[in-house]
Amino acid sequence: MSTKQPPQNRVLKILKSNVSLAPMAGITDYVLRSMVRHYSPTCLLTTEMISSEFLNQNRNQNEILKLDNSHHPIAYQICGHKPYMMNAAAKKLSPLADIIDINMGCPVKKVVCGHDGCALMNEPELAYDVVQAVKEGTDLPVSVKFRLGFTQDNMNYVKFGQKMQEAGAEFITLHARTRKQMYSGSADWSKVKDLKNNVDIPVFANGDVKSIDSAVQCMEQSAADGVAIGRGVLGDPTLIFRIEHYFKTGEKLAPPDIFERLQMMKHHLDEEIELRGENVAIKFFRKFYAFYISSIPNASKYRGVLMVEEDYQKLCKYFKEIENDLYALKSA
Ligand SMILES: Cc1cc2nc3c(=O)[nH]c(=O)nc-3n(C[C@H](O)[C@H](O)[C@H](O)COP(=O)(O)O)c2cc1C
Repeated sequence: MSTKQPPQNRVLKILKSNVSLAPMAGITDYVLRSMVRHYSPTCLLTTEMISSEFLNQNRNQNEILKLDNSHHPIAYQICGHKPYMMNAAAKKLSPLADIIDINMGCPVKKVVCGHDGCALMNEPELAYDVVQAVKEGTDLPVSVKFRLGFTQDNMNYVKFGQKMQEAGAEFITLHARTRKQMYSGSADWSKVKDLKNNVDIPVFANGDVKSIDSAVQCMEQSAADGVAIGRGVLGDPTLIFRIEHYFKTGEKLAPPDIFERLQMMKHHLDEEIELRGENVAIKFFRKFYAFYISSIPNASKYRGVLMVEEDYQKLCKYFKEIENDLYALKSA
């Protein structure tokens, strides 16, 4: 009988928590990562996907690449299907990252038609070469994020995960939907268990974890090593910390109330302005309003104004007006 031990998984040494921030293009930029980190000193942060082609063309991607010392541990996610490009991208990002993550789950038509993202699940041999090329470009652990498969009829996530492990991936995040589902239906956390039972590397479950309760259910159903959270942090950058806190202590901390959310919204906007400049940031930020003010009375009226206002001082004045309305309602 062989006494050879499997090599120690290096990702386990990097992870300080079993919760991660999932990558979201146009969302998990420097500012949002910093906000999530402010509450959670331990979760694994992930950048949004970085095109290996753009990176190699030296296009300015400051908002994505920018790093603060506090962001560690952090995975930089790259996207592409050309092994030499992915190798070069890994080389460039290695001085910043703790883990290089490869996007094999993006379902967007433009990405998939370019053979990137989830398209790689249909080309496991190429995906294997991509992982190997990335490994040759970095000494850091390499991880892969993918889906259940391309369609319901071709859910190859177990075989695909095994292949990624064979290629040298040391960590997997599985979004428990198919490409065809895009973001519809619900994530099937029980499928993550099939993968977990068939690979030796850590697996994080992803999809639809939006609260402490859903994180607990996801961990139970998936038997995963952790959960990756994307949309749940929109409007609530404390969620990851609150889940970590519950896992550690069993105590359920309350989500931020609407007044705290309004403060977070203002801070988020101010930081985006610092990063991108006022004109760009004010338009860029519009996608976040709905999440910060969801579920408050008159939210759609407020949104209507916020979505078109271009003047920073007027926006600040309107934030104050919303706050005053809410105080008035509270004391009525
Ligand atoms: C706006 C948006 C952008 C996304 N961008 C990326 C990306 O760059 N890379 C990636 O691997 N997944 C990306 N995803 C997918 C998320 O990481 C995650 O897998 C998905 O949203 C399901 O998790 P959730 O329900 O916690 O949001 C994106 C999702 C959204 C909604």
